[in-house]
Amino acid sequence: MTVPVARTATPDDVFQMEELMRDAFEASYANFMPEQYVREFYDANGARQTVHEGLSKAAVVEIAGMVAGFAMHDENVLTELWVAPMFQRKGAGRTLLEWMENRFRRLGYDSYSLCCYALNGKALEFYKKNGFTRTSESDSTEVPGGPVKVYTLSKKLDKPDG
Ligand SMILES: CC(C)(COP(=O)(O)OP(=O)(O)OC[C@H]1O[C@@H](n2cnc3c(N)ncnc32)[C@H](O)[C@@H]1OP(=O)(O)O)[C@@H](O)C(=O)NCCC(=O)NCCS
Repeated sequence: MTVPVARTATPDDVFQMEELMRDAFEASYANFMPEQYVREFYDANGARQTVHEGLSKAAVVEIAGMVAGFAMHDENVLTELWVAPMFQRKGAGRTLLEWMENRFRRLGYDSYSLCCYALNGKALEFYKKNGFTRTSESDSTEVPGGPVKVYTLSKKLDKPDG
């Protein structure tokens, strides 16, 4: 089995990042988010926007030399995490979290957080498995076609060895 390997994203990754985000969106968000939100994501080319805006603070994960997923952050908030459907359940998401956690530690943070839609049951399972706890919930009125319930999840970071 090929082990997922994470690294800093570069402009050469943009095309594959956009493509995998579109595929992952279609297999997940498109099924549970409000129709208006989904339509606006496609109309506004949401994948291109996300990748271009977040590239400088992004990591990708490769499996067998292919870009399988990416993550982005802003300060100590994980803002994006996407794994291509064909590479899910192969440890890519966990590898991206570990890469981001090392970055957060180097930046001096002892915890980090993220937002996850309550309807995103698979992602919630993934985060639970990876040691996150729910710290708050709210109804997001910013989601087109919403409101939609959003959870804030957070995780304490272990101190680096030594
Ligand atoms: C959530 C997501 C990033 C997980 O990535 P992944 O690479 O498939 O996750 P991993 O293989 O690293 O999973 C690690 C563990 O998390 C849990 N897990 C992952 N996906 C799961 C699922 N669909 N259902 C239940 N548990 C799951 C499992 O315990 C898994 O370990 P196992 O496969 O040995 O049982 C991926 O499903 C994805 O991109 N989803 C669409 C976009 C999204 O929802 N992003 C999060 C936005 S907040």
